[in-house]
Amino acid sequence: MYEIKKESLYSLLKRLTEAIGPSGYEDSVRDIVVDELKSYADSLWIDSLGNVIAVKKGSKGAARLMIAAHMDEIGLIISYIDERGFLRFQPIGGVSERTLLGQRVAIKTLNGDIIRGVIGTKPPHIMKPEEMKQVPDSKDLYIDVGVSSRAEVEKLGITIGSIAVFERDLTTLGTSDVIIGKALDDRVGVAAMIEAFKAIDGNDVDVYAVATVQEEVGLKGARVAAYSITPHIALALDVTVASDVAGVSEQDWITQLGKGPAIKVADGRAASGLIAHPAVRNKLIEIAKQYGIPYQLEVLHGGTTDASIIALNKEGVPAATISIPTRYIHSPAEVANLNDIVMSSKLTMLFATKITSEWALTLIRKNFK
Ligand code: CO
Ligand code: ZN
Repeated sequence: MYEIKKESLYSLLKRLTEAIGPSGYEDSVRDIVVDELKSYADSLWIDSLGNVIAVKKGSKGAARLMIAAHMDEIGLIISYIDERGFLRFQPIGGVSERTLLGQRVAIKTLNGDIIRGVIGTKPPHIMKPEEMKQVPDSKDLYIDVGVSSRAEVEKLGITIGSIAVFERDLTTLGTSDVIIGKALDDRVGVAAMIEAFKAIDGNDVDVYAVATVQEEVGLKGARVAAYSITPHIALALDVTVASDVAGVSEQDWITQLGKGPAIKVADGRAASGLIAHPAVRNKLIEIAKQYGIPYQLEVLHGGTTDASIIALNKEGVPAATISIPTRYIHSPAEVANLNDIVMSSKLTMLFATKITSEWALTLIRKNFK
């Protein structure tokens, strides 16, 4: 039987987070996911959008559980190359200018080469005092790849449409349990899902583990995967805000780092994202309590996950989310706690193993006549 362990999870995470995979260009992440899951799945395929779907069969005629974690990360897409060789770009997903200045980026060319660049920033020496505190507009930002003409940029293989992401290794902070890197959103969810899938054994429901594409640009992969699977019940694994940092009062923390997986109650502005299905949410709480998994409850007033689109598939799907508390989301220096990720993976594995088809099917429809 496969055991979920911190060390193997970290080495998997290192490979996953360092892979380049902005929305629509998840190929490098997808290769790792397929490689990891294929020997543990009864069947596995990639659909037309690029979602990876791995199935572990349950009992005969079982209900279908869909677990989703997104492979894509935020990034940049080159939109213009000027005659001096500087690259202009558009964001892919929720990129804030505040996080871009002075960052190293990795640009992927059409033939797969990786070229390093930097998002240029004006030195303070020549800034006006009022400029020092300002965040420049993204139209004034550019990537410098160290060459001096458009022809040289083209020779590197960079064209309009080449994509770029933050260039960051995964490493640890002052304690080896706390990791820092790019794209923890949502490679931590992907890693937790992969390890959970490997460890699932004796499941009654059919488990569909889906590594989705294009979540950051509108939950697109999850939408089509849910349509093709028609799940009876669903779980998303994604990061959530941990704003338990200096200067933020306790009531605004959302979640805390190192206090275990967050079981979501609601997300999106004014709860417009997901309102977790109460029975599924309560089942997660019940299992966490029973198996000694620490957990926290989460109400997030902005942002959502794949669960909110899966919940609206066909006649509706009871859905919930296990969130991994993460600081500084959508920056090049996202921070999470390995213990939270391990526990999220275990909770996912236990949920998939312990629920029965009979229970899942009672949530779908109640006949009165
Ligand atoms: Co995100
Ligand atoms: Zn995410």
